[in-house]
Amino acid sequence: MKQVIVSGMRPTGKLHLGHYLGVIKNWVNLQDKYDCYYFVADWHALTTKYDKTDELKQNTYDVVLDWLACGIDPEKSVIYVQSLLPEVAELNVYLSMITPQNWVERDPTLKDMVKILKTKEGQGQQMNYGLLGYPVLMSADIMMMNADLVPVGIDQVAHIEITRDIARRFNNLYGEFFHEAKPLLNECSLICGLDGNKMGKSYHNDIKISDSEDDTSKKIMTAITDRSRLRKDDLGHPDECEVAFKYWKIFGADDEIATVRSECEQGLRGCAQCKRQLGDKINSILAPIRERRKYYEEHLDEVDDIIREGSAKAKEKASQVLDGVKELVKIYK
Ligand code: TRP
Ligand code: SF4
Repeated sequence: MKQVIVSGMRPTGKLHLGHYLGVIKNWVNLQDKYDCYYFVADWHALTTKYDKTDELKQNTYDVVLDWLACGIDPEKSVIYVQSLLPEVAELNVYLSMITPQNWVERDPTLKDMVKILKTKEGQGQQMNYGLLGYPVLMSADIMMMNADLVPVGIDQVAHIEITRDIARRFNNLYGEFFHEAKPLLNECSLICGLDGNKMGKSYHNDIKISDSEDDTSKKIMTAITDRSRLRKDDLGHPDECEVAFKYWKIFGADDEIATVRSECEQGLRGCAQCKRQLGDKINSILAPIRERRKYYEEHLDEVDDIIREGSAKAKEKASQVLDGVKELVKIYK
């Protein structure tokens, strides 16, 4: 029996290279070894964006399109949408009953989310009941498939600690049933944004998986380089080249990186030329991904089928788990 993996993403729109390198690439690599369930967490999006739902459906498509483009394979993994699985909401009810209030209130990831909401960026939003339940709903996602492992970024680990606590509490109260899911930290490289800060859509420093080659090249030309370098033949310092050289280290082959380094250090390579080459390099790596995305954009009916079929498969597993839960809770059924 293969171990079960569950992970999800909120539908925030088109994904960028930070998502690809930090999360999706890892998901792709796990597909052969595990039973993988990957889903769009649209209810989680509503915990903060309940008043901005016009683009929810398009955002859901965009996330799935990017996954398929990057190599999440519906023949290997189950791809589904959270809201198509009402069983998750039902499990959320049972888990809510056994989760002490202070477990959710002290969740550091949730505290960070609330902090942002209260600022101007979050338009001074208050904490809703649903948002307080974010970690419990996330536990329901994970426990719905009785997952063993959850591949996520470091920022999500606190939520998964709560999931483990809730699973343990359920098992103690009602009988051994749920696995205690462990976080599986992404091994993939972290990529910074074009300005050297964390890559993010709202910082306007990202390169999207779905950007055109032209846009990608133009964006790369804005990447920060060695700030002390004014002319092409000034001797460069690749290790102080804040963004461009870091990208070379992520995308270049070993010999290319060595060439860039030595030419930069000897003043034989101008930054503009260097970034033009870097843009070409990144575009060539993304070409097959973008081609696959284009195919699915033109065949949205296939994407719908993938989501419906995946959700049906996920539902099968979910109803088994829910049946076991009801049995143990001794609820009328
Ligand atoms: N909270 C996750 C994020 O913001 C998304 C998510 C929801 C998730 N449910 C999950 C991730 C279950 C892993 C497992 O990225
Ligand atoms: Fe960075 Fe390339 Fe300029 Fe060197 S030549 S500072 S590596 S952009």
